[in-house]
This record gives sequence, structure tokens and C-alpha cells, in this order.
Amino acid sequence: MNRQEAAIKAREMLSRMTTEEKVAQMIQIPYAQEGREASLRWAKLGVGSFLHVLGDDAREIQAAAAESRLGIPVLFGIDAIHGHGLNEHATIFPSQLAAACGWEPEILREMGEVTAREVATDGLHWTFSPVLCLGRDTRWGRVDETFGEDPYLAGELGAAIVEGYQGKDLADGEHILACAKHFLGYGEAVGARDACDSEITARKIREVFLPPFRRAVEAGCATFMTAYGSADGTPFTAHRGVLKDMLRGDLGFSGFVVTDWNNTDSLMANQHVAADIGEASAMAAHAGNDMIMATPAFYEAMLQALREGRADIADVDEAVVHILTIKYEMGLFDRAEKLGRPGCIGCEAHRQAALRAARASVTLLRNDGMLPLSDGVKRVAVIGPNADDIRAQYGDWTYFTHPLPIPGRPAIRPYVTVKEGIEALCAEKGVECEYVKGCGVLPEADDDIDAAVRAAKTADAVILVVGDMIDQFGEYKDRANLELSGRQPELFARLKETGVPVCTVLVASKPLCLGDAAERANAVLCAFNGGMYGGQAVAEALFGALNPSGRLPITFPRHSGQLPVYYNQLPGWHGGKYCDLPAEPLFAFGEGIGYTGFEMKGFAFSPEDMTLRLTVANTGERAGTQTVQVYFRDMVSSVMTPVKRLIAFRRVALEPGEAKEVAIPLRREDFALVNAAGERVVEPGAFQLMVGASSKDTDLTVLPFELT
Ligand code: BGC
Repeated sequence: MNRQEAAIKAREMLSRMTTEEKVAQMIQIPYAQEGREASLRWAKLGVGSFLHVLGDDAREIQAAAAESRLGIPVLFGIDAIHGHGLNEHATIFPSQLAAACGWEPEILREMGEVTAREVATDGLHWTFSPVLCLGRDTRWGRVDETFGEDPYLAGELGAAIVEGYQGKDLADGEHILACAKHFLGYGEAVGARDACDSEITARKIREVFLPPFRRAVEAGCATFMTAYGSADGTPFTAHRGVLKDMLRGDLGFSGFVVTDWNNTDSLMANQHVAADIGEASAMAAHAGNDMIMATPAFYEAMLQALREGRADIADVDEAVVHILTIKYEMGLFDRAEKLGRPGCIGCEAHRQAALRAARASVTLLRNDGMLPLSDGVKRVAVIGPNADDIRAQYGDWTYFTHPLPIPGRPAIRPYVTVKEGIEALCAEKGVECEYVKGCGVLPEADDDIDAAVRAAKTADAVILVVGDMIDQFGEYKDRANLELSGRQPELFARLKETGVPVCTVLVASKPLCLGDAAERANAVLCAFNGGMYGGQAVAEALFGALNPSGRLPITFPRHSGQLPVYYNQLPGWHGGKYCDLPAEPLFAFGEGIGYTGFEMKGFAFSPEDMTLRLTVANTGERAGTQTVQVYFRDMVSSVMTPVKRLIAFRRVALEPGEAKEVAIPLRREDFALVNAAGERVVEPGAFQLMVGASSKDTDLTVLPFELT
């Protein structure tokens, strides 16, 4: 059933519903918080949705909903953020940030498809993914959930995963609803403090934060989630201008909007723009929130507000039609339970997809020739807190963490940590391998740096795996200081003193200020949270079985005090630097190297045919993949525009010695800006294209041109 037909059915159903049934339809109940008994009562009352419930519990709720007067099926939502990770048998992909390092939409599409199939097989319908917030102030605790700092890259990867989740037919039993979140500006909260006000203007919203969400709508994303925060004094939950005018009006969105967790109550309790829960409920509904997540009090409060004339039934009707439309479109009225493919959860084919994504995510940032480890390496010392820590490797939103952490829960196989990956390859190659943890991410009683140094001294190569741990990222866990924590810097320094080459591997939720562990390391490899096979992919890269091709989707600062360091800043003067630190980041957006060399040449671009042409050559001795990055600058414009902005990229796979001609079509509207009146326009005049291997000026070739 297409959306128009579904909307007709939804309106028919609406005409049969009582006010109580309509308000109930807007509610989403958190199963674990409410408990089984209360949840069953809510289901019989006819609530629209539940979240965080799996398998048999979901089936029981669905059966209870069938007993409600109208028998409207329940929609089940879950945070399947990088795989259906709350199910402990599911396939665990790299985090969004790690997956973004591949700059490969196909990887994200596959991640979406696999995740959808596993979620559907659990009888569920909907994932609260993707996150399209930008990771620009990396002190924020949820940077791992983003696609990095760039609006264009986030939009392309976001659109791909949405298409993967939703497929072509939401009713085919294998696809699920995607949810673009958090709308809007959540990642930009002041001081990077979660759920605080975002210092963003209407123009900046349109220029920087809206584009990835626009792409999600173009990709057909069926649901949106409202952000916790506020802008210019208006909580997004109460922001009709954003939720109605911008989302439905300008972007043409026709799905439904869910609040984030307890946003409605927060209008009263935290943001103080409503005096009581009745006012907050009316406000949330009027602003354009269709479904109310985790505020069960909305039910009584909204009914009361309607009786008192403080709320408008038209807002309720509209919300219910939006929700029911999607339920019809998904075919829930014909078959409430999603079927998926029995046996597919964590199956071999799905795990292979996780391995592909992990391989694509590995990003080599520095290499003095230490890597790939040569045949001369007969003994490897694997050291560091995150070398053998599957929780750190999985990152957030898995069964270890969110939202129902069970302390001490054992890890479920299969997975491969970095240590295990290295051990497996060492065994194949007859190389000796010794593992010593050395120290924790945070100081631990059994830290033993001396033992790590002893292991290093007898080795030909040291692989030091540093990073962060779940206490340092996620919701409520923003960091003021991004330096390597605990005794990790000391561990690096002591290992370096041995004179044995050290490769630093970063298994972390986000860019950390690595200091010497990057600047003085012989090689630096970034893995972020690589998922179940992250460790295998790292090991393959270390030994050269994999030629790393990741590129950073986010900038690494040298120091937390440099933040923000995202590449697409507005131009400044007075040097734009600090008197005690350079302005340059540690590693730039787009950076990444491999084991072969590339050359780009023969650039040609004319605005007449709007196609950029160039030749990319592999000048080295190994097959590899280069990512051509295309940036532009508007040289004179009515408002200030960034020094460069990504508008296209293309991955090019090349055999040794091979050269390929590449044609990258661009569109005139790619060169648009948002003017002072908030309109997206292309202003004629001088422009520059900048084409190359990263966002660094030294990696870019400049092609000036004019638009008339
Ligand atoms: C998070 C959302 C998430 C929701 C449901 C909230 O706290 O901000 O991203 O989808 O909880 O778990």
C-alpha cells in the first residue's frame, strides 16, 4: 500500500476512534520501565507503540493489543544503532562514526539491510537510527553515533542507511522504519553538554544542520525524532517552526515525528516553558510531535487538557493520521508481526557484512614504514587497555550498555578483539606474540607498565591499543578533557623509550587528543568502535593483508582547548590561531593513507558541462583505493561562507600501476549558500573547486571558475 492509500485508510480508522483511543495512539511506552503487567494494560488500552522490547515479550504485547476495542496493531521501536545490538546474538557493526571512515554509501546500505532483517526477525518494526547530528564539538558524548562533522558526507551515508533499513517495500516483512534524529542541532549544544541549548541561528540551521536531514527525507525516511535541546530559547519539542514549517513544509516530510525520551515532561520539568504536564502535552502536540516517547502521563494530561479546552483535538487527529498511515503502509493491519528470516540473527552472511564494514573503516593516519609489519618481525608485543576489551570495541548501544545494561553480562561470541586478530595472524605466519595490558583506560589496581615494557623489549614491533571506555562516552557522558586518560600517555612514553617501533591503534568512540602517542609513534591506525570484527580488520591492516582505505570523517584536535576544529569553518583574520598552540589539528578531515601511492592529475572542470574530470593513478606496488574529495569555495558572497565545503567524493579502486579517468557530475545547486533571508541561492561570481586526497590545502589542487 502506498502512502496516499494508507492515509485514506488512516482517516477512515480515525473516524471510528474515541478521543481516548486517539490520545492512546500517540503514546509510546518504555516496556522495561513500565514492567510487564502495566505494559499489557497499556496495550489493551490501545497505545500506539512500545520501545525496548524484544521477541516473545513483543509478541505478548501485540496479542494484548489485538484485544483492544479496535485492535490497532502496536508498532515496536528499538535502538538498533549499529546492528540490532540490544539483542545479544545480533550482528554488531562498527559504530556510525567508524563506518563513516569508509566513505562508502554501499557499506551503510548493507549495514541497514542486515540490521533491518535482524530487527524484523525479532518481530519489531522500527529502529531509532540514523543519527544525523554533526560531530563538531567532539567533547560531546555521542560523537560515536554520528557520521562525523560534515553535512554532505553525513547526508550521503545517512541516505544510504535509510534506504537499507526501509528497502523498497516497508511491508515485505524484512524491512523496518528508519528514524532520522535528533531533529535538530542536538550535537551543537553549548559546551558540548548533552541536551543543552544550541547556539545556532535560523540561517545556520539551514546551511549546516538541515542538509543531512533533507537527504534523509529524499531517501524516504519514514520517521523523525525531535531533539532534546533548544535553539534561541525555544525547545525543539515546542518548535512548530522546525517540526511543521521546516520539516513538513520545506522538506516535504510525510511520515511521523516521535519525541525523544520524555521530552514532553521536560518542557515542564527541565526547560520550564510549560507550567504543568497538561500545558506541556498540548504544546508538544501542537508543535508537531506525533508520538510521545516515554511520557505515559501524556495520556491523562492530554485528555484533561482537551476537556478544559487547553489543547486542540485537531492536533491529535493530525498526529494519529500520521502514525496510522505508516502502520497501514507497513502492512501491520494485515500481519502485525514482522517475519524477517528465521535464523538470520547473527548468521554467517550477516557477519560477513560486519567484517566488510570493519575493513572499510580502518584508517591509517601515520606510517614511517613500520607498517605493514615485515617478514623481519618475528615477535610482536600487543599492549594496551583496549587490545582485548570487546566492550570498548563494541562501543555504545549494544547489550553491554544501553538502555538495559546488565552488569557483568558476559560477552557473546563470535567476535575478534585486536589481540585475538593479531594472535590469529601471528599463528599463521609463525610469529611469536605476547599480550600485556599494561594499564587500564582509567587507572586500575593491577596496572603493570613494567610488565608491558619487558614484553616490548623482547619484541620487534609493539602494537599499543589505546582509547576510551563506556564510562567516558554516551548520553550524560560528555568530556571536558579529551586527552588519553589514566596512565595511557605514560604507557606510550615507556614503550617508546625501548626503541622498538610502536604503532598506536585507537579503539575509541571519537577522536582523542593523542599527543605523543600520535606525534612520536611510528605508525597510527584509527579503528574507533569497529564492532564484532573490528579487531580482525585492524590485525589484517597491521600485517598488510588489508590495505587500509579509510578516510577521517572527523578532525582530530591536538588539544581540547582547540575545539571546535572542524574543517569547514568561516574565514577569520588575525591568523586564526592560539599563542600557545597551532590552529592546525592533529589529523584533518579526509585524511588517511595506505600502502600504495596515488596521484591525481589531468584536472578539468567547466561550469558549462558541470562535470569534474581527472585521472587517478596508483603509483605504488599494491592494489588500493583512493577517495577523490571535491571541495569548493565561494570567493565573494553576500554572507560569509566556509573556507571549503565538501560537495562530492568518489572511491576509486586501482591495481598497481593502473590509472583511471574519473568523471564526477556536479550540479549548480551544489554551490548554493543560504543568504541572510534564509533562502538557498547560488550567487554568480568567482568560485574555486579544490580536489584532492584530504581537506588539507597541501593535498588539494585548486580549479578556479565562474558561475554566471
Ligand atoms: C536517545 C535517543 C534514543 C532514545 C530511545 C534517548 O535517550 O537520545 O537517541 O533513541 O533514548 O532509547
